Amino acid sequence: MTAQAHEGNGTGSDYEAPHLNGHFPAEEEQAQERLQDRVQPPRYAQIIGWGYQVPERVVTNHDLEQVVDTQDEWIRTRTGIQERRVVAAPQETSATLGTEAARKALEVADLHPGRVDLIICATSSPEHLFPSTASIIQDNLGIINAGAFDLSAACSGFVYALSIARGQILAGDAEYVLVIGAETLSRMVDWTDRTTCVLFGDGAGAVLLAASDVPGGVTASVLGSDGSGAELLTIPAGGSAAPASLETVSSGSHYIRMDGRAVFRFATRIMAAATRQVLDKAGIPVSEVDLVVPHQANKRIIQHSVLRQLKIPEDKVYINVHKYGNTSAASIPIALCEAIEEGKVAPGDNLVFVGFGAGLTWGACAVKWSVPVEKPETTWWTNTQRQATYQAAAARSMWKRAIRRIYSQVEPRAMARRPARKPEEEQPTP
Ligand code: ACO
Repeated sequence: MTAQAHEGNGTGSDYEAPHLNGHFPAEEEQAQERLQDRVQPPRYAQIIGWGYQVPERVVTNHDLEQVVDTQDEWIRTRTGIQERRVVAAPQETSATLGTEAARKALEVADLHPGRVDLIICATSSPEHLFPSTASIIQDNLGIINAGAFDLSAACSGFVYALSIARGQILAGDAEYVLVIGAETLSRMVDWTDRTTCVLFGDGAGAVLLAASDVPGGVTASVLGSDGSGAELLTIPAGGSAAPASLETVSSGSHYIRMDGRAVFRFATRIMAAATRQVLDKAGIPVSEVDLVVPHQANKRIIQHSVLRQLKIPEDKVYINVHKYGNTSAASIPIALCEAIEEGKVAPGDNLVFVGFGAGLTWGACAVKWSVPVEKPETTWWTNTQRQATYQAAAARSMWKRAIRRIYSQVEPRAMARRPARKPEEEQPTP
């Protein structure tokens, strides 16, 4: 597979600049030839790398029995969850998990970080409102030639991000895009609220999307939103509507609030509808789907939607919610990575990623898997080169921070020493 250099949208071969009326002086003729040279074969957005990272600390349902009034039996039967991973150390964050997942995706693709054009991090538990978690990951990995932004669409975030990344590639604006879902929702749940704390877990997953001339890849997407359901699943405070205050903290308004039953009803309807819609768009009958990788919120939601309504057999729907709980935007890429590890994905397969979440939002992507799933062999030398790249990235970041610190110390003193200007000198020059 080759990722192609692309210099903008191609033009048709019969293109004629209207103002020249068909007459081209030598220079214009050359320009015309150059334009025609740019006519490109079709572009496709292929997933060429993947990786995930979950915290080491496991919290089982039995552990939760010690914290809130709940039972392992209740959680298993109502959700399918048996355990989840939760960040332990304060320095373990959405960005550190996202960085590791992205690093693994780059390694599978065997791509130097300097070649990535764009990083999209889907997250509802970003490091800060700003700067973006994507920018922090960009710095951690030394991805110096890329734009970076966070995407907020709750648990649908990964599907949204994949759809945007595909658009960037098909438009010719990017060759390589890192799409990351990274969450530490354990820091956003009220650990005294049994209706939410048993559901969520932490983790990150990433894919690397590349421009390619090989047909397939992410072939279609659908995205949807119904903001009339905004209050069904929300973190009420901490944004501009209710800035953090003593009152918001004491009332617990900075924690996740959810109407579980209403979200359940919405999810079962929309997961099936979005899957159907994206398959229609991609021109693939349900019977030809090889694997659905749904958002892992609740096993019963998956059973009531894609399994029952679409009659997709169980062995064609990947489920790992029992191990990780709901990791929000990270759940689909983590599930995809595990499905690949378990040999459930092969070149030629038709995959569907489908998710729903707060907003309310939903989304689905159809993927024609077109690349080998074997990881490239790593040698001592490639590992050493990679380590050197990441160490250089860390050194570069430290150096830039140090220079800024020096400037911030030196500049005010230099300003203070500058003689006061006469008023006429302050006039702006025309
Ligand atoms: N342990 C024991 N009992 C519990 C627990 C618990 N952890 N939580 C609730 N209960 C009780 C309730 O209090 C209620 O008791 P009551 O009948 O005496 O009032 C009873 O169990 C039944 O509660 P329901 O809410 O009706 O239970 P339900 O079968 O609907 O399951 C659940 C609740 C699991 C939350 C389900 O509604 C669900 O999964 N909803 C979707 C949630 C979801 O997917 N959210 C994430 C969206 S993605 C994103 O954007 C973050």
